[in-house]
Amino acid sequence: MFNLSCQTDLSSRRCVWVNGPVIVGAGPSGLAVSACLKEQCIPYVVIERADCIASLWQKCTYDRLKLHLPKKFCQLPKLPFPEDYPEYPTKKQFIAYLENYAQKFDINPQFNESVQSAKYDEACQLWRVVTVSTIGSNPSETEYICQMLVVATGENAEGIVPEIDGLQEFSGEVIHAKDYKSGEKYTGKKVLVVGCGNSGMELSLDLSNHNANPSMVVRSSVHILPREIMGKSTFDLAMMLLQWLPLWLVDKLLLILTWFILGNTQKYGINRPSLGPLQLKNQHGKTPVLDIGALEKIRSGDIAVVPGIKRFNSNSVELVNGETLDIDSVVLATGYRSNVPYWLQETEFFAKNGFPKTPFPNGWKGKRGLYASGFTRRGLAGASADAIKIGQDIGKVWKEELNQKKKKPFLFPIPRPDIALRFRFFGRIKFSLPTSTKAGLNRSTRPGGNNYLIVDMFSVAEKRSLPLAFKNDEDEVREAAVNNFEDGACELRHMAAHLI
Ligand SMILES: Cc1cc2nc3c(=O)[nH]c(=O)nc-3n(C[C@H](O)[C@H](O)[C@H](O)COP(=O)(O)OP(=O)(O)OC[C@H]3O[C@@H](n4cnc5c(N)ncnc54)[C@H](O)[C@@H]3O)c2cc1C
Ligand SMILES: NC(=O)c1ccc[n+]([C@@H]2O[C@H](COP(=O)([O-])OP(=O)(O)OC[C@H]3O[C@@H](n4cnc5c(N)ncnc54)[C@H](OP(=O)(O)O)[C@@H]3O)[C@@H](O)[C@H]2O)c1
Repeated sequence: MFNLSCQTDLSSRRCVWVNGPVIVGAGPSGLAVSACLKEQCIPYVVIERADCIASLWQKCTYDRLKLHLPKKFCQLPKLPFPEDYPEYPTKKQFIAYLENYAQKFDINPQFNESVQSAKYDEACQLWRVVTVSTIGSNPSETEYICQMLVVATGENAEGIVPEIDGLQEFSGEVIHAKDYKSGEKYTGKKVLVVGCGNSGMELSLDLSNHNANPSMVVRSSVHILPREIMGKSTFDLAMMLLQWLPLWLVDKLLLILTWFILGNTQKYGINRPSLGPLQLKNQHGKTPVLDIGALEKIRSGDIAVVPGIKRFNSNSVELVNGETLDIDSVVLATGYRSNVPYWLQETEFFAKNGFPKTPFPNGWKGKRGLYASGFTRRGLAGASADAIKIGQDIGKVWKEELNQKKKKPFLFPIPRPDIALRFRFFGRIKFSLPTSTKAGLNRSTRPGGNNYLIVDMFSVAEKRSLPLAFKNDEDEVREAAVNNFEDGACELRHMAAHLI
């Protein structure tokens, strides 16, 4: 869980300067941006809170999950799915594809680091991104400093747990859909599935397939569409029709065809919203359900549909229609939210709900080197579209800067206000550490009282393979490891350790 109040041991804080963008999140969006940068030889650093890539897919999804759109809409830029993959790859196949993607583009995220805050420092005109390690009993803090920040933490970063009266008093198991793996352990159990989006429908189907007794809460309305119409993916068909027809007409056609295939869902307690499925998605971001068998189970009574919840008791739930159901477990398929507002200190580009204010297709670029990838409400296809645009834009900026004859020095904040540092490049990178009383101190004080270190970014980039040495007051020179240097990040841990 995202934790803002995490206590950190500041003595272990390190400072990493990144030559190139910092990408937050190693899901499909972060990987896609990384690949687009890699291809142009632009260095970057990817930060990921989990211990693996695509953690949503690897850790927070159920076993039976398959992509619900045809594979051509789900592949990331520059690498198609293997030809022998089925039209709707399984979760396992999708993860294997992503692992291969990361390997092919040599993407090596900084795992187990959760971004706790990121803000633009106006004085030095750089982003300061603070992470806390997510492993170990003594969490350490790292500050990444960079010119560009790519937000790729996803639309589904945190599971939403609604506040429902009495939920705390319920004595059975309560889990969010992100922690559900299989219906195996629920055989013979009465399970209340709260929510009827794609998760609620598929978990109810899985529970029923494992001989559990699921009741699915439908508190409002939902569009259920068949996954395929006349052998063609419904999504594909909609995309095709949209090339010639207006959205409202495509919606009407989809609903007519759906009626012929699925019949009237209303008689099973599932009302349709007044807006059409595509209009609803566009205006409110609500995804239609693509049915893969749950409706058949609803028809046969294997999945019960129940109205909204009034309150929970110790081993039962009261519904708004006055009915009470005895239940053993609850699965909250109540959706997800973006976590961007918890860590990104920026309100011009991102709205309070953690999505860019500007809708698709223009919500990928903010100001001051800020980018957003994967917030289009268009799944993997949207993530890929963003990544291509972001890659091109960063590539343009990067080339322009490289072509500048005279590079502007970047101001680099240092952790101790009473000590100023200067380093220059003479074949070896030297850090000289004058005391604050020493004459000739190369100190630059900015509003707010911070000291800054002047760094020539391009010298670092060009001299990447050089050894790094410390030079202290006594003229002792100590070699220091330079972690992540090949990724364009200048590791300053030793320097910070020396100062603190
Ligand atoms: C059950 C389920 C099934 C889905 N099926 C499909 C489908 O079939 N087709 C489709 O197109 N879309 C599908 N989606 C939507 C899906 O979210 C996206 O397709 C895809 O995962 C988005 O990729 P992403 O990289 O933007 O986000 P994510 O996959 O969520 O990746 C974001 C990454 O950022 C990391 N992160 C988050 N916060 C921080 C932080 N503060 N610091 C560091 N790291 C952080 C996370 O750990 C995660 O690894 C599905 C979603 C769910 C929940
Ligand atoms: N196979 C797949 O590819 C697959 C599978 C699962 C999910 N997904 C994707 O994952 C994303 C998230 O889907 P999701 O189904 O997890 O979330 P979702 O689409 O946001 O649906 C959340 C559901 O929970 C209901 N809900 C929320 N709070 C409630 C409460 N207090 N009481 C009763 N009901 C409540 C909502 O009802 P209201 O509508 O009334 O608010 C809605 O039905 C979507 O993009 C989806 O397409 C894909």
